[in-house]
Amino acid sequence: MRYVRLDTPKPISKIGLGTWQFGSKEWGYGPEYERRAAEIVRRALDLGVTLFDTAELYGFGRSERILGAALGDDRGKVVVASKIFPLLPVAPVVQQRAVASAARLGVDGIDLYQVHQANPVVADTTTMRGMRSLQDVGLVGEVGVSNYGLRRWRFAEAALGRRVLSNQVRYSMIDRGPEEDLIPYAEQAGRIVIAYSPLAQGFLSGRYDATNPPAGAVRRANPYFLPENLERGAQLIATLREVADAHDATPSQIALAYVLRHPNVVAIPGASGVEQMERNAAAAEIDLTDDEYAALVAAAHAFRPVTGLAAVPRMVRARLGK
Ligand SMILES: NC(=O)c1ccc[n+]([C@@H]2O[C@H](COP(=O)([O-])OP(=O)(O)OC[C@H]3O[C@@H](n4cnc5c(N)ncnc54)[C@H](OP(=O)(O)O)[C@@H]3O)[C@@H](O)[C@H]2O)c1
Repeated sequence: MRYVRLDTPKPISKIGLGTWQFGSKEWGYGPEYERRAAEIVRRALDLGVTLFDTAELYGFGRSERILGAALGDDRGKVVVASKIFPLLPVAPVVQQRAVASAARLGVDGIDLYQVHQANPVVADTTTMRGMRSLQDVGLVGEVGVSNYGLRRWRFAEAALGRRVLSNQVRYSMIDRGPEEDLIPYAEQAGRIVIAYSPLAQGFLSGRYDATNPPAGAVRRANPYFLPENLERGAQLIATLREVADAHDATPSQIALAYVLRHPNVVAIPGASGVEQMERNAAAAEIDLTDDEYAALVAAAHAFRPVTGLAAVPRMVRARLGK
């Protein structure tokens, strides 16, 4: 495993584990998955993974409970990251929600406490007042944000009066927005971009095609899995396979290596089984050559999925099986 080169109380592994899947029926993994989830966590620990990401929203607290129980006595050795869903993120609510998350996780301190998304009405001055007091009493280690633009990330730092260590955003080969400003900022200021959906929810694994889309409500709502987009992605997947073959790796591992190339980026792929966790952890060791990286960039640029409003009628038709 590789770790971010930054001054943090505990090392942060380049590959973390995302746990939205835990306790969340909408991924379609069935009741058996809860046992598997614990095995995934234990294996991740064995492999040197130190970043475990959850949120109060995932499974309405179940993800935090499953993760905390699976970590057991190792909770203190790793970076446990959770998120507040900022419905009304005024200071007293932030404090009370952190206490509830810590209790579900079974920890006396949340190593990284993140604001799940920017609240359009409540300013970060208010939210960060709550965060600062949580840091002052030791219930929260580092503060993070998620789905923040650069301006608001920096504003949140000014409001906190301390570093906001990380911004967790969608970042993969086919969602490259963070490369414009968030990643350069992280590199210059010593911050971290946490890449969520780094496999585009499995799209980049090459496991799915138009005749074999994934099950579950989460991915039915993701336009990348429209039959048309799965077809349009064939060339990109072929390029991933080509690079993967040269490393004796899989397309998913190469997709992870693509985002991890930036020193201040870590990725938190979810996993449906232990073997995926193993492969994802191993991806931290892959070094892409400049030519390989250029080929991946070109293939990613050439992929033009149908997204946004144009995707809506197609998604309705796909839902109706037409
Ligand atoms: N802050 C936010 O707003 C936000 C939003 C979304 C996610 N997140 C966080 O980010 C984490 C990851 O994002 P995500 O779950 O949306 O997407 P992801 O990590 O891109 O995709 C995860 C899915 O990809 C497949 N997969 C994983 N490893 C694989 C491998 N080695 N080979 C083949 N397939 C593999 C699995 O599905 P199958 O095996 O079923 O195909 C798995 O459930 C979440 O768990 C959550 O913690 C945060």
